[in-house]
Amino acid sequence: MTNSRFDANYFARYYGEQPVRTMNEVGHLATAVHEMVAWWGGSIRSVLEVGAGPGDWSAWYRTMHPDVRVTSTDVSEHACEQFGHELRDIAEWAPSQPYDLVICMDVLQYLDDRAAARALRNLTMATRTVMYFDALTAFDAKHTVDRSTTDLNAHLRSGNWYHERLARGFMHAGAGLWVRKGGGIVLHELERTRR
Ligand SMILES: C[S@@+](CC[C@H](N)C(=O)[O-])C[C@H]1O[C@@H](n2cnc3c(N)ncnc32)[C@H](O)[C@@H]1O
Repeated sequence: MTNSRFDANYFARYYGEQPVRTMNEVGHLATAVHEMVAWWGGSIRSVLEVGAGPGDWSAWYRTMHPDVRVTSTDVSEHACEQFGHELRDIAEWAPSQPYDLVICMDVLQYLDDRAAARALRNLTMATRTVMYFDALTAFDAKHTVDRSTTDLNAHLRSGNWYHERLARGFMHAGAGLWVRKGGGIVLHELERTRR
């Protein structure tokens, strides 16, 4: 179930001296997501970070909101030992109880189509209120990312592929935010995308 691709070398390359994103940048995003959920009237008491890698979101929550129950998971034995996550493959596992906020950032491009589809179902089951989701797409690989620093050795699918599957359980609010249908948050028409 573990994946040796994500070993010490992988983390040194992408999260070492020149990390793909800094803790400070993640802090801005986490603040925005947390406050956006508060604006919608939701409250975050539990957080699940999936494929957490260095675990920046979990670290931010533990520091800024120590009352929130935080769980972080990863399929990499190295990441689990180094950063303290539970060893879980999101294609094969969903928690027994949902979390208020789920974060899955830059993970699903590493799964083939069948595993990614299973992972999206597990992420949907894992989310009570809101999920922050991002994955590298074929469009991103061509147009939005720095190709010299991004790991492009991945399953590059279309954005539509993800949208179609996520829209079964979520409303898309934009900016990576997916609001769970029936999860208690009501979005105004123009707060959500048209899909
Ligand atoms: C690009 S890193 C992203 C790390 C972190 N989410 C971030 O945004 O900085 C990809 C991570 O996904 C993890 N991963 C890959 N496949 C996974 C799977 N099937 N289940 C859980 N984690 C997985 C890897 O071990 C690695 O830590």
